[in-house]
Amino acid sequence: MAVASLPLAQAMAENAALVERQIGLMLPKSDLPEARLFDAMRHACLNGGKRLRPFLVMEGAKLFGVDPGCALRVAAAIEFMHCYSLVHDDLPAMDNSDLRRGQPTVHKLYDDATAILAGDALLTLSFEVLAEPDTHADPQVRVALVQALAKAAGGRGMVGGQMLDIIAETTVFELHTVSRLQRMKTGELIAFSAEAGAILGKASAPQRQALRAYAHDLGLAFQIADDLLDAEGDTETAGKPVGQDADLGKATFVSIQGVERARAQARMLVEQAERHLAIFEGRAEMLRAVARFVIDRRH
Ligand code: IPE
Ligand code: IPE
Ligand code: MG
Ligand code: MG
Ligand code: MG
Repeated sequence: MAVASLPLAQAMAENAALVERQIGLMLPKSDLPEARLFDAMRHACLNGGKRLRPFLVMEGAKLFGVDPGCALRVAAAIEFMHCYSLVHDDLPAMDNSDLRRGQPTVHKLYDDATAILAGDALLTLSFEVLAEPDTHADPQVRVALVQALAKAAGGRGMVGGQMLDIIAETTVFELHTVSRLQRMKTGELIAFSAEAGAILGKASAPQRQALRAYAHDLGLAFQIADDLLDAEGDTETAGKPVGQDADLGKATFVSIQGVERARAQARMLVEQAERHLAIFEGRAEMLRAVARFVIDRRH
């Protein structure tokens, strides 16, 4: 499929459809009493969403001629991880959000306990998928994927960033700490997404490093854009509550630098991200385009 030659929006939409089909096939189904859990997992994963991380996986994999079926499984795995992080992020004990992707959050539609369990089950499902032989014929590649995702999602990555994010409500952080917080809570899963194709394709160290560097800057720009949406967006378009960061007194790039400087910073980071792709010459056009999209998005 010549997705790369299509405009970004169409390429992302086509990719999202493929990923959603894959997610639908992989999520458990049952008519046993625990099906409530599976229904909650489905709501968490099949309720819209930009599917940015899966798009990064698929585009990164194309650079190295990876089997699209293998890449699609990794794309689903990272989306399971991301959706788990959102379900827990929305819980009353965390951001206490009622709306996600324009729909009621999992704990609103079910209850807190079910939302915690659905998150737990999505988290473990993402590793189950990576470890399965269909994800890659070489077990060393599968272990490398599991290790990279565990590192990105764990205490020194996303979860650690979420801890810092909560502390940021009551502590005055300097910009460099906010930057570290954002790279951890958001940047690490984005970095895994971009790097996964290089792991699957056994890319050279410089190529893998280039993708990591790209994603590092992209991830930070992405979270600054998210904070700008929280400050300036509207709930209808964003599909989630806005104004929460200010209400919670949370330290963000926007609260520290103001809207204009935060926007300029995000733009600068995206330009830097694009420059890291020079090594791939014309073959990374979609990755360049998605970087620009990240800061212009309205949701
Ligand atoms: C929202 O992520 C949470 C952050 C890490 C900022 P996305 O903006 O990618 O959310 P969806 O998946 O499109 O709903
Ligand atoms: C969430 O950050 C990041 C993770 C879920 C890891 P936010 O709390 O800013 O995300 P939104 O605004 O609720 O999507
Ligand atoms: Mg949060
Ligand atoms: Mg939140
Ligand atoms: Mg936010």
